Amino acid sequence: MDKFIIQKSSLKGEVKISGSKNAALPVMAATLLTDGQCVIKNVPDLSDIRTMVKILECLGKEIKFEENTLIVKKSSKKLNPGFIAPYRLVRTMRASFCCLGPLLAKRKKAKVALPGGCVIGPRPVDLHLKGLSQLGAKVSIENGYCVAGGKDLKGCHLYLGGQFGSSVLATANVLMAATLIEGKTVIEHAACEPEIEMLALFLKSMGADIEGEATPLITVRGQKSLSGTTFEVIPDRIEAATFIAAALATKSSITLTGVNLKHLTAVIDVVKMIGGQVIETNGACRVNVPSKLSPVNITTFSYPGFPTDLQAQFMVALSLASGISLITEKIYPDRFMHVAELNRMGASIQRSGPYAIIEGKEALFGAEVMASDLRASAALVIAGLAALGKTEVLRVYHIDRGYEKIEEKFSKLGAKIKREKQ
Ligand code: EPZ
Repeated sequence: MDKFIIQKSSLKGEVKISGSKNAALPVMAATLLTDGQCVIKNVPDLSDIRTMVKILECLGKEIKFEENTLIVKKSSKKLNPGFIAPYRLVRTMRASFCCLGPLLAKRKKAKVALPGGCVIGPRPVDLHLKGLSQLGAKVSIENGYCVAGGKDLKGCHLYLGGQFGSSVLATANVLMAATLIEGKTVIEHAACEPEIEMLALFLKSMGADIEGEATPLITVRGQKSLSGTTFEVIPDRIEAATFIAAALATKSSITLTGVNLKHLTAVIDVVKMIGGQVIETNGACRVNVPSKLSPVNITTFSYPGFPTDLQAQFMVALSLASGISLITEKIYPDRFMHVAELNRMGASIQRSGPYAIIEGKEALFGAEVMASDLRASAALVIAGLAALGKTEVLRVYHIDRGYEKIEEKFSKLGAKIKREKQ
């Protein structure tokens, strides 16, 4: 297992943002909807992407992944049995559950391991199952697997809202399935995240008939078949904003390239309230940060609200603001594993249910800390860059799941960070 050794740093220069992991994963699952060849460009080279490659190979695809381009085609080998996504792979990555919809629609049967618990709190799949059942699938849970059969699938009008609002991957599952299901499907309370919009555009480029993507009401008219396509993945808005959070916490000014600011409106609003300046110039984005940060209140929501996937990283910056901030977590009320670790570094954060009250401090102090999940790990790296002295972030395999070459990118910005074997 690797760890990061980090010293207090000031950042400057330019960083290029990679393609979005959370956009690439559902699109990879969507290749199951066709026997044609799909070429997907700007795919980040991450362990989650490599896990999805293995799952697709189990499901009868032949894949080449070089220089951030994936070429996915039907394997010439016999499928055996071609509809099972095994637990040994699914348990390492929940996004693999979105193979369920495409398998069901294309192969009329699917057996996908249930992903199980998660360190960021309960992550049920009831909305996925409800949506697919309403499309006529027979869904059952057998020995830890979700088994879905679909002889009489038919488009319908369905509502996909849950206790915490819309669901990104449940929308992806139902949307993908509906593209090959006879009749008209209307998804009400669909997720509006840019990653779902991109999935819809990818499906349209395969010949799907979809209207209303990027809105809560998506209409799909099922087709007999879909073709192969060539497509480019959107920039990773969460990676981009993670670098912005690092600039805030280290009170540095940096430039991001290859970023789509339209996907970051809520984040930029918060950055401005904290005192930062975001200037768009020729496809790049300059972030200027003052020496004093203002406290703010942040509430996470589904898109276009402030993303839960940035809550931990912005908490670090607010730990160094002049005053008291409040973070309310509306998507995953238990996603606060990083609080205890940040407090070990001298932060003053009190958690109560879905709330975290952050009293800004003059400084954080280096410590040995433990990464618990992907975004919490990124927060600890940022805290290490902002803290006085040496920080060791243990278990960085979490970060390798979702940030391409993170230490290389931070080093290029002047950060003192190195990877060591633990
Ligand atoms: C996606 O997960 C992302 N993953 C997550 O990013 C992200 O945190 C999350 O969306 C919210 O934005 C990928 O895209 C691969 P949800 P997803 O279903 O789709 C509840 C990261 O760090 N819910 O939109 O699984 C759920 O518990 C990861 O990159 C149900 O109640 O999340 C949550 O409260 C972590 N029933 C809310 O909905 C369901 O069937 C939103 O979750 C499904 C979800």
